[in-house]
Amino acid sequence: MSGPNTNYDPVQVSALDEARVEARVAEALAAIEGATTTAELKAVRIAHTGDRSPLALANREIGALPPQARKDAGKRIGSARGRVNQALAARHEELAAAELEAALVAERVDVTLPVVAHPRGAMHPLTALIEKASDVFVSMGWEIAEGPEAESEWFNFDALNLGTDHPARALQDTLWLDPVSDGKCMRTATSPVQIHTLLSKRPPVRIISPGKVFRADEYDATHLPVFHQIEGLYVDRGVTMAHLKGTLDAFARAMFGDVRTRFRPHYFPFTEPSAEVDLECFVCHGASVADPEHPCRTCRSEGWIEWGGCGIVNPRVLTACGVDTDEFSGFAFGMGIDRTVMFRNNAPDMRGFVEGDVRFSRSLLGGAR
Ligand code: DAH
Repeated sequence: MSGPNTNYDPVQVSALDEARVEARVAEALAAIEGATTTAELKAVRIAHTGDRSPLALANREIGALPPQARKDAGKRIGSARGRVNQALAARHEELAAAELEAALVAERVDVTLPVVAHPRGAMHPLTALIEKASDVFVSMGWEIAEGPEAESEWFNFDALNLGTDHPARALQDTLWLDPVSDGKCMRTATSPVQIHTLLSKRPPVRIISPGKVFRADEYDATHLPVFHQIEGLYVDRGVTMAHLKGTLDAFARAMFGDVRTRFRPHYFPFTEPSAEVDLECFVCHGASVADPEHPCRTCRSEGWIEWGGCGIVNPRVLTACGVDTDEFSGFAFGMGIDRTVMFRNNAPDMRGFVEGDVRFSRSLLGGAR
């Protein structure tokens, strides 16, 4: 029987020899110190503390030793591994802090640097005026109506009592759609909305209809081939010219302040009697007429500004829409929105409405709202 092996072979377990262990530790500490990034340190950790590292391999040898030697070697290796792990943790803290610091410097946002400023837009002055006019009528209980921009000849002309020989039907005034024989055109006024409305609902009818209209016009400072009108229609029992005058006076005051309107006799096929409505100049209130020293740009010193057309709805129009003219009567009016913005805001050139320069919109909105 053999006793415990107290004299173990130092060659076989040389990995556990104190000098060798210290050498492994020194190598590990040097590698830890030499790592300059956390990524490098990770490789060092695997090489010096991983399963296949010299200290791990030496640790495995311990089991084969006699008890006393096992205890010594266990202490030695344990302390060696402890020192290496501590050094790893300390270096990791150092490197991670340095890396964070570098990232904070590299990614710093300089809030004082100039930026590309996105200029603010502005509501289009035509939209602004349409909204304001709509508010005035909606607050009086009227409704907003719409109609198509491409119309059949019957809606745009016949139903509105414009005869087949009316000059407005000519090619030079109206934009007809191909093929012309189909009798479709771009509406030349918002008036056909009157017809659509009367065909779709019974009186009482109180509508305004703002929208685009189209004419074969030049494109210059005072003409656009596409411009805007606002149409009004009131049909009920006993509607008179007095109601028309009162309504337009209220409209004018809501838009321009303390001003009057006046009617001048005129002719429109869809109204009888008809009138052109003028607005008292809201800038000089007529003072410039007798005062050549102080001319008024807004009314050109005439005291009044042409605003639109109006009248009592021609019974022929009501009849075309199946409305009983013994029971009902009505009034209608129509004005140019672009023109209204022009004189209301002293806009020099209509082309600004379509050229899309926000400075035009801003300049008109400034004093207007
Ligand atoms: N449609 C006319 C135009 O384009 C404007 C107009 C005048 C409309 C009198 C009306 C009206 O409703 O009664 O010039």
